[in-house]
Amino acid sequence: MHQQIDDTEINITLLTTAIGAEVDGVDLTQPLSNAIAGTLRDLLARHNVLFFRAQHLNLDQKKRFTASFGSLLTLPYVSPLDGDPEVIRVYKGANEGGGVFGGDWHTDFSFLERPPAGSVLSAVTVPPQGGDTLWASQAAAWDALPAPLQELLITCDAVHVGKPYGVKWSPPIETQTGAGMTMSRGDPSADEDRLHPAVLTHPVTGRKMLFLNPTYTVRMDGMSEEESRPILDAVQRHCIRPEFTCRFRWSPGTVAIWDNLATQHYAVNDYQGHEREMFRTTFGGATPRELTTPYPRSAVTV
Ligand code: SIN
Repeated sequence: MHQQIDDTEINITLLTTAIGAEVDGVDLTQPLSNAIAGTLRDLLARHNVLFFRAQHLNLDQKKRFTASFGSLLTLPYVSPLDGDPEVIRVYKGANEGGGVFGGDWHTDFSFLERPPAGSVLSAVTVPPQGGDTLWASQAAAWDALPAPLQELLITCDAVHVGKPYGVKWSPPIETQTGAGMTMSRGDPSADEDRLHPAVLTHPVTGRKMLFLNPTYTVRMDGMSEEESRPILDAVQRHCIRPEFTCRFRWSPGTVAIWDNLATQHYAVNDYQGHEREMFRTTFGGATPRELTTPYPRSAVTV
């Protein structure tokens, strides 16, 4: 697929019809024109995750690119770079054992009142094998959900909490420095129960999408964790069916941007003995509650 915008020709290669597109022809080291930024926002809305190879952005370029999608966020839990509170270094050293940051299906910080609308991850060092990331389209998952389950979930809220991730991956002390990343357990707002609708409407495409994930969603509103578990497990098995996913092999300098509220993602922990270094920024947008009715912001043009 090609698109001509002013004097720029953009080439778009889909990873799958459900999710994922590689975009060539845009130089992210330069400020984006309004026309190109608008096109990328519409592509992101339609394909959920976009990949740009060989960009090698410095931190200022990365933040500027992120800010063309929404205001830059600072987030609880993961300590940012010194002097750059909006940037997280996602790092695993060659000799580090154990888990990996983002190593289970999740939607970034879904436990916040206003979770990131999107995240940007750029690769600096990638292992010679492994270290891929998977994304799953939650609109594709909704479309294929059996009607009785759609009817059940469309009126439901679910409870999201940050605590399970912190407990699972970080020792239960105020602050713990791991070999590669510093996780903070000192933010009580991340441990509060947060009610979000289980089904959202995408603000650009108008598509419905499931908004549940196994890392942070602990129960359905009005039900105990035990009562909710069979429903959440069954829905989650459906949400990550291979037909709704794409898997991306990183190369140094690649930048990915994803629509956080429309997806779940998973960092694969399969590169023991090798280093992996990425930098992540996030941008803000509507709250999940604001996305329960359609309010198209722009036409999808591609
Ligand atoms: C994340 O969950 O944001 C990290 C994804 C990755 O490292 O591939």
